[in-house]
Amino acid sequence: MFHSLTIHSVTRETADSVAITFDIPQDHTGEFAFLPGQYLTLRADVKGDDIRRSYSIAEGTDATMTVGVKHVEDGAFSTFAQDLAAGDTVQVMPPEGRFTCDEIGPVVLIAAGSGITPMVAIAADVLARGDEVTLIYGNRRTENIMFRAALGNLKDKYLDKFTLIHILSREEQDVDLLNGRVTGAKIATLADADAVDLAGAKGIYICGPGDMIDDVAQMLDTRGIDKSAVHFERFFQDGEVQRAPRSEQATAAAQAGVAVEVILDGTRRDFSFSNDDSSLIDAAARQGIELPFSCKGGMCCTCRCKVSEGSAEMAVNYSLEQWELDAGFTLACQTRPTSSKLVLDFDAV
Ligand code: FES
Repeated sequence: MFHSLTIHSVTRETADSVAITFDIPQDHTGEFAFLPGQYLTLRADVKGDDIRRSYSIAEGTDATMTVGVKHVEDGAFSTFAQDLAAGDTVQVMPPEGRFTCDEIGPVVLIAAGSGITPMVAIAADVLARGDEVTLIYGNRRTENIMFRAALGNLKDKYLDKFTLIHILSREEQDVDLLNGRVTGAKIATLADADAVDLAGAKGIYICGPGDMIDDVAQMLDTRGIDKSAVHFERFFQDGEVQRAPRSEQATAAAQAGVAVEVILDGTRRDFSFSNDDSSLIDAAARQGIELPFSCKGGMCCTCRCKVSEGSAEMAVNYSLEQWELDAGFTLACQTRPTSSKLVLDFDAV
């Protein structure tokens, strides 16, 4: 699952972010083929803890792949990552993620901060196939703009097809509309000024903090934009995820103890879940079973599996779609059993 990849180079993007480029060994080229918008999960032992984090791919070829890592205050992995250097090795999972662009036609990309990372890959791909891209990108100041050179190169190469709009919250720009934060109201004003064609976009992609995404998504809904055309990938800082309170059934099941069976890569394994366990993933790990996971926050979908027997609820879900919920899929990192036996099938598609 994880592969040890060597760092080809580390480029400082801003004072608090780096772009890390990995060498992809020739015999892993197929496994590391990626769709623009996907991410890599990196893994490291940080002070004895098995830490994993997902970082979007900004650029990639058969031979190398680049992710953007912004330092988060008290963030274990992002702090560790700032000191990585060429020649170091890191455990890396092949590309995953569903924040990919399938639509043919013009797209609108809306990003804030490090949310630009997947947008660089998506913009390059859409422009290369000949469609138009409008990218609205929010930061505090010019010095905080990640992948500025890569965006500049795209602008030079696709002058007529690529509209790049920077919005800065702590640096005055000549055009008043471009000052402030990225909000639904700001995007609506830009649309009314014909700076961005929301109605004509085949896809609208939003990546950044949850409150920005919710605000912009609500505005798009109000303006009658088809929900199926709107895609988002949210990120939170550690500890920011709001979990729903545990139900009475889940509390009772945990107190009584739950027999859990997992089906993973065709093999069945058993473990127990009790009131002392913070999550199914941790309960399995405590009993020597490694389940797939990355963000542990309900966002990345790495731990997606299907409840094939028993019942469960989720604390949060930011990634499964309604059809998946209807079909019985769950996120193992957020799953709370509500029955005395629970079977989770990680092989289900
Ligand atoms: S590990 Fe990311 S959603 Fe569960």
